Parts: sequence; C-alpha cells; structure tokens
Amino acid sequence: MAFVSMTNMLTQAKHDHYAVAQFNINGLLWIQAILETAEQQKTPIIVAVSDRMVEYLGGFECIYQMVLTTQKKLKITVPVALHLDHGATVEHCLQAIDAGFSSVMFDGSHSPIIENIKNTKVVCDYAKNKGVSVEAEVGTVGGNEDGLIGGINYADFDECIKLVEETKVNALAAALGSVHGKYSGSGPKLGFKEMERLNNHLTIPLVLHGASGIPVEQLKKCIQLGHAKINFNTELVTTWADSVRKTIQENPQVCEPRLIMLPAKQALIEKMTNIIQIIGSANRI
Ligand code: 13P
Repeated sequence: MAFVSMTNMLTQAKHDHYAVAQFNINGLLWIQAILETAEQQKTPIIVAVSDRMVEYLGGFECIYQMVLTTQKKLKITVPVALHLDHGATVEHCLQAIDAGFSSVMFDGSHSPIIENIKNTKVVCDYAKNKGVSVEAEVGTVGGNEDGLIGGINYADFDECIKLVEETKVNALAAALGSVHGKYSGSGPKLGFKEMERLNNHLTIPLVLHGASGIPVEQLKKCIQLGHAKINFNTELVTTWADSVRKTIQENPQVCEPRLIMLPAKQALIEKMTNIIQIIGSANRI
C-alpha cells in the first residue's frame, strides 16, 4: 500500500475520540520500529521527518524510498502517512510533496498571521490537487521548535478561525501551552478552556505538539477536546539514548552497531506500544 494522507485517519479518529500518533524518525531503525509497532497494534500511523533532519537522513527522495521499501518489505497493511514535520518554508513543503510525501506541515507560526495564512494557502493549493494533507500552526509551542527556540505563545482564537477558513487546511496545531522537549517545574499548563472554544468552532482536527511528558489524563482530555493527532519525539529519543547508554555501560567491549541498536529498537517498540494504547488508536484497523 502506498502512503495515504492524514485526512481520513484523523477524521475517523476525531469522530471516535481517539488520536493517531505521529512519531519522528531518526534513521532506518526508527522506520522499522514504527512500522512494526503500527502493524502489531493495528493502528493508522504518521511517520514524520522534522525539517531539520531531512538533509541528515539523505534528502526527501531518499527518505521516501527508505520508508516505502521498508513498508513493502515488512508487508505493512495499516494506513501510513509520510509527513514533513515543521516544514520551515513553502519550498520545502513543495519539495516533500514532489518527492512523494503524503502529508506536510507548513509552520508559519513565527511569522505575522497574514504571512502565515498567505504561505499556508500556497501549500494547501499545491497539496490539494495531489491528495496530500496539510497541517498549519498558529501560536508557538515552547522550547526548541525545530531549531527555533522560544517561549510559549498561546494561539489567538480569531487568527485560528481566519487561517482555517482562508486556507482550508486539513489539521491545525493551535499552540496552547505545550512545549517541545522536557517540561520544567510543575509541568504543562495547557489552555483547556481555549481548546474547548476552538473545538466548538472548528470541524477540522486539532494537533498536539510537544506531547512528551504530558500526563496521561491531560492527553485524554486533549483528545476529548478535538485533538486527533498527537506528536511524540522527546520520549522516543530519550528511550533510545537510555538503551544505548545501558548497553555500552554493561558491555564495554561491544562495538558492533547491530548489537547496540537492536535493544534500542526493542525499547522504542515498547515505548510506542504504550503510547498507542494510551491515545486509544490500537485495534482501529
Ligand atoms: P516532543 O519532542 O516534545 O515529544 O514533541 C514532538 C513534536 O511535537 C514534534 O513536532
């Protein structure tokens, strides 16, 4: 099966009050781990590449071929969206689409809203003809947002409505207090009231960025309030790094990458299985 856009999987998830996981890749091992987990759990899945990782991973075409070939080799039957996360420019989004990505996020959240809307619309118009889904962002997620480090800036309600109406985007990341990376102090302070208001006015699904470290009950509340896509990265990279460190510390002589990476892959599979079960997308296929 080729890649599918996020539109149907998110519409279904929103309707049935669960969320689909977005997991970001960092190499072939991650692609295998994500696809194997999705197939085992019978869940639709969003395989994502952060814009800043595209060159490191060999470019859009190389990433497309790696994921496609792995999908075929593992005989994956669940729906898979291949998604560009935090596309930094219109050009990057169009390049990803041309390379075969089935979904892109254009992140214009650091620009004035007029410019964000104008650029998001260019991406949406291009994507629409090709059956590719588009996610946009309003407000800013705290922490390190794909290389841009900043504070939390809550999404403005009117700006969200205007952007959705004018661009016809398929999903909206409305930043409402979440943070990329680790939460400090007393943890996340999510804007549930603002979330509820937006959800009451929008039919498209909301996207939660910076989900690592958000307590389970709050994740569930976000899902009840219209979030149908939830993005995880930090919990995965820390799981991977903890496993690699442990293997090397316990076996100082080990140098074959396979022997270091396979336990890390298993640790990733366990972490992702747990997440998929929490957000309710297991056994939906
Ligand atoms: P975390 O790294 O905080 O899990 O956020 C992931 C994310 O939102 C990717 O876009």
